[in-house]
Amino acid sequence: MHLLSKIGKIPMTETVIQLDNVCKNFGSLKAVNNLSLEVKKGEVIGFVGPNGAGKTTTLKLIAKLMRPNSGQILIINKQGKLQNLHENHKNLIEMGFLIDIPHFYNSTPYRILKYIANLRNYPKEKLNQRIDDLLSDFNLSKWKYRKIKNFSKGMIQKLGFIVAIIHDPEIVILDEPQTGLDPTARIDVRKHIRSLQKKGKTIFVASHMLYEITEVCDKIALLNEGSLVGFDTLDNLEFLLRVKEIVCKITKPIPPEKIDSILKKLVQSLEPYLEHDLDPTISEESIKYNPNEKSFFIYYDGTEESSTKILNILVNEFKSDFTISSFSKPKTVQLERLYTQMIYDNENPKLNKDAI
Ligand SMILES: Nc1ncnc2c1ncn2[C@@H]1O[C@H](COP(=O)(O)OP(=O)(O)OP(=O)(O)O)[C@@H](O)[C@H]1O
Ligand SMILES: [Mg+2]
Repeated sequence: MHLLSKIGKIPMTETVIQLDNVCKNFGSLKAVNNLSLEVKKGEVIGFVGPNGAGKTTTLKLIAKLMRPNSGQILIINKQGKLQNLHENHKNLIEMGFLIDIPHFYNSTPYRILKYIANLRNYPKEKLNQRIDDLLSDFNLSKWKYRKIKNFSKGMIQKLGFIVAIIHDPEIVILDEPQTGLDPTARIDVRKHIRSLQKKGKTIFVASHMLYEITEVCDKIALLNEGSLVGFDTLDNLEFLLRVKEIVCKITKPIPPEKIDSILKKLVQSLEPYLEHDLDPTISEESIKYNPNEKSFFIYYDGTEESSTKILNILVNEFKSDFTISSFSKPKTVQLERLYTQMIYDNENPKLNKDAI
C-alpha cells in the first residue's frame, strides 16, 4: 500500500512526534536542554524565543540534521507506530524542511525541484504539474528555467519553501520561512501553511514574526536558553498573563476637550472589571485612549464575563459619546506579552515565586 494512504488514516488525535528529554550540547553550551514535547497529527507548532534560544537546533534535531546527545525523538512510521528517528529510516514518514538559507546557485528551480521530488519518491506522473502549480503560487513561473545565482534573497527563500514541500511530506519543518520576504510573499507563505494544515500535515514553524505565528499556529512552544518554558495553545497560555487587554476601536475620534471626562466616566462604570494592579511597564492607567488609532485600551481581569459586561456597558452607557467599530483581544499583543513575561520569569525565578 502507498505510504500516503496509510498515513491519511492516522487520526488527528494521534501523536506523530514525541521528544523525550532531548539534550543537544555544543561543548559546554546546552543548546537544547532536556526538552520534552508531544505533537499530534495536523498541529501547527510555533517555536518562539530569543536569539540563541535553541529553536533552529531543535528543528535540526527533528529534521534529522543532527543527533541529540541524550534523550530520544520518536516519530510515526509507515505502519502508524512511533519509532526512534534514527532507526530504520526507510520506514519513516516523509518530512520536508526549510532550515537556513538554501544554496542551489548553479542550478534552476525546475532541475532542483525535480531532483528533490525524485529523491523523495514523489509520483513522477504528477511532478510536472506540481512544479508548475507551486512556482505559480509563489510567482516564480517565469524563473522556472533560470539560473538561481541570479535570484534575489526573497526568491531563493520562496524556492526554499517550495523545495521543503514539493514531495508533499506529512511533516513540514520551517525555520523562519518569512525572512526576507515582501508582504505579498509573506501572505503566500501563510496561505500555504494554512492549506497544508487543512490537509492534516503536521508543521513546525520557528519565527520572530509573532503576528505570523499567531495567525497560523495552533500551539506555541516558547523556548529560552535551550529550555521549553511554555507549550500550549495561546488561549491556554494566556492564563499565565497577569494583564489582559481589550482594544476597542471607535468610528470617530473623540474631541480632545472631551477625553478626560469620558475616560473618568469609563473608569467609574467599568471599575469592577478592571485590572488595578497594573504592571507600570505596560500601562500606568487601566484605560487609555489613543487618538491616532481611535482606540481605547482597556486592561481588565481577563474573564469572559467581564469582557461581555464591558462590551454591554460601552454599547449602552456610552452611546452618546462614541460608536464602537470593533472590540477585540489582540492575539499578537497577547503573544508579545507572554513572550516577555515568560522569558523574564524564567530568568528571575525568585522574583516570580515572590510575586505568587
Ligand atoms: N553548530 C553549532 N556549533 C556551536 N554552537 C552552536 C551551533 N549551532 C548553534 N549553536 C549555539 O546553540 C545555541 C542555540 O542556537 P540556535 O541556532 O538553535 O538558536 P535560535 O533559537 O535558532 O536563535 P535565532 O533566533 O538567532 O535563530 C546558540 O547559543 C548558538 O550559538
Ligand atoms: Mg534560528
